[in-house]
Amino acid sequence: MLRLFFRVFTSILSERNLKAAAVHRSFCSAASLPASVCSGFAVKTLMEPKLYRPPPEVRGMTSLDKEAFTQTITVPALRVPTGVLNKVVKSLRKATIQRPGVPRVVQDKEESSDFRLVLLDPHRVSSPSFFSEAEAEALRSFSVAEELQYYELRLTYHNLKSEEVLEAVLPQGQDVTSGFSRVGHIAHMNLRDHQLPYKNLIGQVIMDKNPGVTCVVNKTNIIDSTYRNFKMEVMAGEENMVAKVKENGVTYEFDFSRVYWNPRLSTEHQRVVQLVKRGDTVFDVFAGVGPFAIPAARSGANVLANDLNPESHRWLQHNCKLNKVEKKVRTFNLDGRAFIQGPVKQELPVLLKGKPSVHVVMNLPALALEFLDAFRGLLHQETSCDENLPTVHCYGFSKDDQPETDVVERASRSLGFPLKDQCSVHFVRNVAPNKDMMCVSFTIPKEVLFSADYEQTEPSVEPAPKRQKCEDSTDST
Ligand SMILES: C[S@@+](CC[C@H](N)C(=O)[O-])C[C@H]1O[C@@H](n2cnc3c(N)ncnc32)[C@H](O)[C@@H]1O
Repeated sequence: MLRLFFRVFTSILSERNLKAAAVHRSFCSAASLPASVCSGFAVKTLMEPKLYRPPPEVRGMTSLDKEAFTQTITVPALRVPTGVLNKVVKSLRKATIQRPGVPRVVQDKEESSDFRLVLLDPHRVSSPSFFSEAEAEALRSFSVAEELQYYELRLTYHNLKSEEVLEAVLPQGQDVTSGFSRVGHIAHMNLRDHQLPYKNLIGQVIMDKNPGVTCVVNKTNIIDSTYRNFKMEVMAGEENMVAKVKENGVTYEFDFSRVYWNPRLSTEHQRVVQLVKRGDTVFDVFAGVGPFAIPAARSGANVLANDLNPESHRWLQHNCKLNKVEKKVRTFNLDGRAFIQGPVKQELPVLLKGKPSVHVVMNLPALALEFLDAFRGLLHQETSCDENLPTVHCYGFSKDDQPETDVVERASRSLGFPLKDQCSVHFVRNVAPNKDMMCVSFTIPKEVLFSADYEQTEPSVEPAPKRQKCEDSTDST
């Protein structure tokens, strides 16, 4: 099997040859000639600092030709008796070759059953003097000759890491980013302009090198949709956008191209859900496909979850069923303001008289702080009380030098009530250079909730929210 995969030739060169090769390479570099220009030595790659670099002909390739990455390189090896093979490999762990799909032990040239070749890292070992004291001692104790053998290794596309492939293909000197986020079987990337001509190749490489990824998409930088989903284009693989993911032990399914999902929010979802106790009520104003609502319901809370995007609402319902909490979650497809002034307003009076806590989660960081005015005078027809007032967790982006102060001031303005010293602020994450996502948590003051003197923006009859652009270039919050 191994012999099929690697066409292996061993050439036993003497250490003298190796030294000669080293001399040869230093001659080439002193003369500023590429090693390939100097003829007469087959081991030129052995001494290259980046030995695994693919052949230069692949530069500029836009359609992936895997064969073009194949090359034969010469690597050092030790001839080891099979009886001590495992012990030697263990002792030389740091000196052996480490490449995806490349075995550390191969048959030697004579195919003797008594010996094998242990392949060494050519960047680390170019002569026996490169073995550490402990390695040399181990070799002596197992009676293994330190004499280096040379093994011609057929290195293919499959033995390269994705960065190595992309670095070799994309224009030299330009940024090669092979980073992506993963949502189920989908890898999503933010390609730069210079990478666009290579998008199909990049997609294919990401798919090849990441087991389980069967679809690679490119997201445009700008979220210009109300529903916080990105425009995306399939770069490689299947067109199937229905992803299945697990977050904090809960399974979600959704069409990634039509709803919002951000794998980087799992810690935040967990943090907030941990505040919710059995019997509490949670109003999730911008629920998405349910990453606050469903775990809260699983912890025994009664949940009212809302999203304006009909697709999110559909997947939210689907996920409630999938996680068997459909009896604990009532779902709504309303504008957030209409949700607050409708179902929230209706439920609150009874809940305020009870003992279990009431939470309102508002995760639409680009806009949620502005929605807080919907609480002004929400219960003005009710008798004021200060028992069991709801706790709000409201998210906001801030580009301010003092994001905590900034989000508290904006929340206060929206509520018409100073929250300073009456709230806590949690830094969620940095979403772009100089842009933080924050969460302000506070109890809605009774002065706000029961105020008779309030100015509210009426919910629109047709849910037609403002379209807005968000220059969140790094991810999809
Ligand atoms: C940032 S996502 C958060 C989703 C989910 N809570 C999460 O943590 O993943 C915001 C959600 O708000 C929804 N949305 C946007 N504008 C809305 C509005 N005016 N009223 C209600 N939902 C809205 C979007 O469809 C999106 O699902």
